[in-house]
Amino acid sequence: MKGIVLAGGRGTRLYPSTKAVSKQLLTIYDKPLIYYPLSTLMLAGIQDVLIISTAEDTPNFKRLLGDGAHLGMNICYAVQKTPRGLADAFLIGESFIGNDNVCLVLGDNFFYGTDITMILNKASQRKEGATIFGYLVKNPQDFGVLELDAAGNVRSIEEKPQHPKSNYAVPGLYFYDNRVIELAKQVQPSARGELEITSINNAYLALGQLHVELFGRGITWLDTGSPSSLLKAATFVETVQVNTGYYIACLEEIAWRRGFIAKEEMIALGEALKMTEYGQYLLSYRGEYSND
Ligand code: G1P
Repeated sequence: MKGIVLAGGRGTRLYPSTKAVSKQLLTIYDKPLIYYPLSTLMLAGIQDVLIISTAEDTPNFKRLLGDGAHLGMNICYAVQKTPRGLADAFLIGESFIGNDNVCLVLGDNFFYGTDITMILNKASQRKEGATIFGYLVKNPQDFGVLELDAAGNVRSIEEKPQHPKSNYAVPGLYFYDNRVIELAKQVQPSARGELEITSINNAYLALGQLHVELFGRGITWLDTGSPSSLLKAATFVETVQVNTGYYIACLEEIAWRRGFIAKEEMIALGEALKMTEYGQYLLSYRGEYSND
């Protein structure tokens, strides 16, 4: 399975912070925002990743992540000239996806929780159809929203409805079979002029091929699109990391735990960062900075 991180857009809701730098390069506590969605793909076992961004920002992502070889990954890059909507990712990424299935994660979405790896693996192993998720929120009108019948089956998905039919928002994490490329080609721009991911999800629903998993209370999902949600995410990461001693979205650690790189390679990456707590965390796995 291939993975795409959509890290485009102008980030106007975060101006002036994002006037000169991509939103996905802003810091969430101790690492750039893009580390978090990238870690989600890695936890799903995905090693081939396409990062889609603007022409101005792409060189910065390349400086940050390179070709991914140090993480046992293959990271490549593509430019989205104008923010035409999420479904555009499958048109831009057509040759990258090839004949594979694909997972799309939005560059500003943050997922954390005990069962997340199991949930992601279940979705990535499904060969046919689409898997999307539902998450209870207080402000569903800001998202794609699930309409559920009494039995809990999805009847429709509405994009940012004025009168939401449930409180289940659809987070920015989507698993699709290869048909998504053809379905994306058929999507017509919405009233806001975008190729909506919701149109693709409704197309899978019409085919009877949409799987929807509801995230329970043990999962934290944050869409970091506003200054307050950025701060909330940073505080969350700091609290978890300081209280538990385990890092969130430490790419080198995940690469090692998923078997993408050997422990010695992770330690070498820690050496290069040992002036930081992040680097010392990696080195703690050889017992240098901890008691284990
Ligand atoms: C997009 C999708 C929406 C989804 C949200 C998750 O919204 O269109 O369906 O719920 O991401 O973050 P946008 O970021 O375009 O406002």
